[in-house]
Amino acid sequence: MNCNVSIQCLPLYKRRAQSVGRNTQFHQIVLRSRFVIYIMLLTYIFPDVMLLRYIFPDDIIQSMPHDAHPMGVLVSAMSTLSIFHPDANPALRGQDIYNSKQVRDKQIVRILGKAPVIAAAAYLRMAGRPPVLPSNNLSYAENFLYMLDSLGNRSYKPNPRLARVVDILFILHAEHEMNCSTAAARHLASSGVDVYTAIAGAVGALYGPLHGGANEAVLRMLSEIASIDNIPEFIEGVKNRKRKMSGFGHRVYKNYDPRAKVIKKLAEEVFSIVGRDPLIEVAVALEKAALSDEYFVERKLYPNVDFYSGLIYRAIGFPTEFFPVLFAIPRMAGYLAHWRESLDDPDTKIMRPAQVYTGVWLRHYMSLQDRSPSTETDKFGQVSVSNATRRRLAGSGD
Ligand SMILES: *[C@@H]1O[C@H](CO)[C@@H](O)[C@H](O)[C@H]1NC(C)=O
Ligand SMILES: *[C@@H]1O[C@H](CO)[C@@H](O)[C@H](O)[C@H]1NC(C)=O
Ligand SMILES: *[C@@H]1O[C@H](CO)[C@@H](O)[C@H](O)[C@H]1NC(C)=O
Ligand SMILES: *[C@@H]1O[C@H](CO)[C@@H](O)[C@H](O)[C@H]1NC(C)=O
Repeated sequence: MNCNVSIQCLPLYKRRAQSVGRNTQFHQIVLRSRFVIYIMLLTYIFPDVMLLRYIFPDDIIQSMPHDAHPMGVLVSAMSTLSIFHPDANPALRGQDIYNSKQVRDKQIVRILGKAPVIAAAAYLRMAGRPPVLPSNNLSYAENFLYMLDSLGNRSYKPNPRLARVVDILFILHAEHEMNCSTAAARHLASSGVDVYTAIAGAVGALYGPLHGGANEAVLRMLSEIASIDNIPEFIEGVKNRKRKMSGFGHRVYKNYDPRAKVIKKLAEEVFSIVGRDPLIEVAVALEKAALSDEYFVERKLYPNVDFYSGLIYRAIGFPTEFFPVLFAIPRMAGYLAHWRESLDDPDTKIMRPAQVYTGVWLRHYMSLQDRSPSTETDKFGQVSVSNATRRRLAGSGD
């Protein structure tokens, strides 16, 4: 597929990078921009930054179980937006509504504005707290932290250094080519479905642990290693294919992932504010051991963006099930840039991967009576509840 949206090849991004400074490298643009400027580079549309004026009808989130997985909440809330914006739905208003630049840009601003609002509401839902409205005074990242932590106190201000860290993490995650979820967004959009449903599908792909759970796997690996003394044994295990090295290697970068360099510095910044995570010593030592080991050098296995991000998220106090949400919020910009590009691409056709049928060539119909029924049938109308819900229901009161 021809595509212009990419950290590697976005032409506008490069032009902008050159104008920011001579020989501007990736990490420089990251450290000099703000997330909102960066998403302008990706989608190049925003005359101003009033992203957060669009609020989400939060009774929908309130009606979900209090211990709902926040990614499940995000998927559902995104697809719900499709219902709330019939004006932007090609199924109702005709395929050509997205030909209008104004209509497109309106949806883009809505989604970018609502994503952190929904994410914060999902977070607060887990904590049993009511959602907080965003403040118009704050930046994108500040506002996200404000909604999480202010408890509705309008004069609350998040720590500016932590907000800057979140801002940089958002930039680092905003776009990265045809990852599983981005491909899913383009796949859905190719049918002409409304953008909210396409984005809900993308977030659904990110919900899968192989995709959005990579940094959690790193944390698990580091906890298992637990101490620097165990690293040589672990490295041997990786070489014998008995252990799995998470957060190393990348399909695109055959060299050090430039994002990992930035993230490693951010980790130090975060620890200087909230305290040091002891696993960072293990991570740094593991990286060093791997980079000086021929096995890894030969295979060009270097730390990737997921290697340090889990440690940062954990240190800032996010539960692991929230990690993919922190990935999803900024990646909306990437999904939308791809969506926007696909609308203009004359080669865009409904996607339909070719299938090579390898099944039985000829089979005869077997009547229902002749088939053996499954013994494991779900009882109709019975929804299994979570343990926390069971605990709550075990109580009483009036
Ligand atoms: C925005 O900032 C101004 C001045 O800095 C302050 O007076 C106002 O109360 C703030 N508004 C909100 C919604 O926080
Ligand atoms: C709101 O936050 C400000 C600033 O942190 C604090 O001074 C004030 O006491 C808080 N108000 C309430 C009602 O908690
Ligand atoms: C891309 O997806 C892979 C898994 O499919 C995941 O490990 C990685 O974190 C993703 N990276 C980015 C930044 O998109
Ligand atoms: C819920 O409790 C059951 C019974 O103790 C346990 O087997 C199960 O793992 C628990 N579920 C979760 C998600 O923790």
